[in-house]
Amino acid sequence: METKGYQSGFGNEFATEAVAGVLPHGQNSPQRVAHGLYAEQLSGSAFTAPRHSNRRSWLYRIRPAAVHRPFEPRAHEHFHNRFDEAPATPNQLRWDPWPLPARPTDFVDGLVTLAGNGGPAEQAGCGIHIYAANRSMLGRFFYDADGELLLVPQQGRLRVCTELGVLDVAPLEIAVIPRGVRFRVELIDGEARGYVCENFGALLRLPDLGPIGANSMALPRDFLTPQAWYEDVEGDFELIAKFQGSLWTAAIDHSPLDVVAWHGNYAPYKYDLTTYNTVGSISVDHPDPSIFTVLTSPSDTPGTANVDFVIFPPRWLVAEHTFRPPYFHRNVASEFMGLIQGAYDAKEGGFVPGGASLHNCMSGHGPDAASFEKASGADVSKPDHLTGTMAFMFETRKVIRPTRQALDAPQLQGSYYECWQGIRKHFKES
Ligand SMILES: [Fe+2]
Repeated sequence: METKGYQSGFGNEFATEAVAGVLPHGQNSPQRVAHGLYAEQLSGSAFTAPRHSNRRSWLYRIRPAAVHRPFEPRAHEHFHNRFDEAPATPNQLRWDPWPLPARPTDFVDGLVTLAGNGGPAEQAGCGIHIYAANRSMLGRFFYDADGELLLVPQQGRLRVCTELGVLDVAPLEIAVIPRGVRFRVELIDGEARGYVCENFGALLRLPDLGPIGANSMALPRDFLTPQAWYEDVEGDFELIAKFQGSLWTAAIDHSPLDVVAWHGNYAPYKYDLTTYNTVGSISVDHPDPSIFTVLTSPSDTPGTANVDFVIFPPRWLVAEHTFRPPYFHRNVASEFMGLIQGAYDAKEGGFVPGGASLHNCMSGHGPDAASFEKASGADVSKPDHLTGTMAFMFETRKVIRPTRQALDAPQLQGSYYECWQGIRKHFKES
């Protein structure tokens, strides 16, 4: 498949056409669109949202999105938004990697919901899912009306063919598919696994930089949006919708990936996590981990995110007289962590690529006993270079509620708490 490349920038007003001369000039919906196409607006924010957060795109397509048979409920045992099935627990939780499927399983069928909060009805909170797949989506297209999808591949490259273009996404990259955008996931490497944050709240955006200034952290120019691309294919296909926490299916006799040209600022994008310009202490102590925020979905409370996407990339640790790994802490926010590659510097073992951990509101956590002992005795007159690692966190203001299947899964490590049991008392009053 020939793809058309990318456009650089975050939330820009892009304009792209796969056939020259399609985009109208001076208006959005001319009486007749060039080449016999239909004009359709896709709005991702309220019409009257402030200009800085207003997102919409105009699509020029072979058939409008309305052309399909009626939707009917479609069962999916493992992918849902039922976050009240089990009591939320203050226990620290950790999971081994989810296994790759034994049977043919595509991206949609391979989704498993681990946890979440809020929901699509209240347009706040997020769902946290794992995907594990071993075949491309065949004759099948998907969209999520409940939230935008932040894909975090951990193993295997994805080719995400969307209405607005094609994103090739590898581990150490992320992709964001806006709410409502139809897409198909193909597996470039035959197998794939990763994490998904389904954001029900305000659209993910770049965080403000405050005193950091105009640069650093994630740079807008490193976000890539696809050029227009389309396929003109007819057949007996399936359009799967996620709507209010459940899946629905409709027959469709053509590929909905038929947008020949589009313009606007509501579009999928990808980002290479290795381009993140990491900021940190050059004297003593750690800044708060908000310095590692790639994207944030703000809530209605200033400075308090609905969900933050945070990474822990390779970096130099140079703070003197300082306990260099993440310190012991408790937090009003709740933290779901995953590991894309390497090791995380607060844990000696047990937290492995493809695995996950959950530390909820005010649950104490931090380095395990082995990491504490090692870091307490380390020579901090010299820098440490953390390499080959990439951990991430979905951090939310509301408690993250694990699903029943996550709590019952054999991947749940019943012995996780033991990693802190070896922490010894060192106190001496005199
Ligand atoms: Fe934490």
